[in-house]
Amino acid sequence: MNFSVIHKDSRTAARSGLLRTDHGEIPTPVFMPVGTKASVKSVEPEELTAQQTHIILANTYHLYLRPGNGIVGKAGGVHRFMNWHKPLLTDSGGYQVYSLSELRTIDEEGVRFKSHIDGSMLYFTPENVIDTQRIIGSDIMMPLDECPPWPAEKTYVQESGDMTVRWAERAKKHFESTQPHYNHSQALFGITQGGTYADLRTQVSKELVDLDFDGYSIGGLAVGEPAEEMYRILELSHTVLPENKPRYLMGVGTPENILNAIERGVDMFDCVIPTREARNGRVYTRNGHINLRSARFAEDFTPIDEGFDNHVCRNYSRAYIRHLLNVGEILGLKLCTLHNISFFMWLTRTAREQIIRGSFREWKDSFLQTFNAGKQ
Ligand code: GUN
Repeated sequence: MNFSVIHKDSRTAARSGLLRTDHGEIPTPVFMPVGTKASVKSVEPEELTAQQTHIILANTYHLYLRPGNGIVGKAGGVHRFMNWHKPLLTDSGGYQVYSLSELRTIDEEGVRFKSHIDGSMLYFTPENVIDTQRIIGSDIMMPLDECPPWPAEKTYVQESGDMTVRWAERAKKHFESTQPHYNHSQALFGITQGGTYADLRTQVSKELVDLDFDGYSIGGLAVGEPAEEMYRILELSHTVLPENKPRYLMGVGTPENILNAIERGVDMFDCVIPTREARNGRVYTRNGHINLRSARFAEDFTPIDEGFDNHVCRNYSRAYIRHLLNVGEILGLKLCTLHNISFFMWLTRTAREQIIRGSFREWKDSFLQTFNAGKQ
């Protein structure tokens, strides 16, 4: 993997770049749709490509549980298994340390999970999480980390952050002593933690930078803290993380969060918002989001976003999709999902174009003004 910053915005920390992997190039800033279990729910890989998706995300914890390393290995890795031949990034299971906190115990060696599927015991270590990602064959791998909750006591966040650094060091060592299983190379990022404590975040970030990862994920954010706290940590991260490495803000977020993070120097994003909300009928437009389940769209034969150039807006009306949702036709969920993916891809692609043109700030302010004014 190789990353170059191509344009730097003169008035903000925003940058456009190009991330090169053996499965193709990724223009940044970029949004990565979430395909936790080797599927972006309801969407085929060729449809993802048609929505101009460059890279998707899958999850080590979920794939380890089902179908398991044996089947993924026999399939020849997740790219072949799911017929997705563009870049793939895998999260490590560190988020499940947070989201499944009732089902796990942590010690220095690793994390013991009680499977949320059948109650069996699983043991994740920094080393075996790398082994699983070697079998998955993701282009970009994440080390095992602990994402602490927010708020949390400073002493807890400090001890947890120190352990995440020690795990990152073990992960890197294991990464360097193992080889890819398939015919493409794999990169390993470091994940910064430290909550919203500026001194802890700086310390963890610096220690990870000294370990020299291929890129840096910013973890432990968007876990309930006010957005302003997250932005403060991003401003700090921008000053500590190396300029020539990609920065990935994990699990973020709304269009507003994404643009504010791009302004603070973030290159990569993933979030379940566009896909999960689509399945509840919420779709994104340049005038805010609307819920297509609402009766007020029953006779609205206009597209989701008039003039928005994507497959769903060119071909279907709000009234038709509302009807599909209303009668429980699965096509309704799929069209909402396709539209939202296309919208989030448009958002980061347009941010990139505006950075290159030198007008990112003005565009962002004007986009958000219209977006927030129409939000309902
Ligand atoms: N996804 C969102 N936040 C996090 C985090 O802190 N760690 C990991 N591994 N994944 C995440």
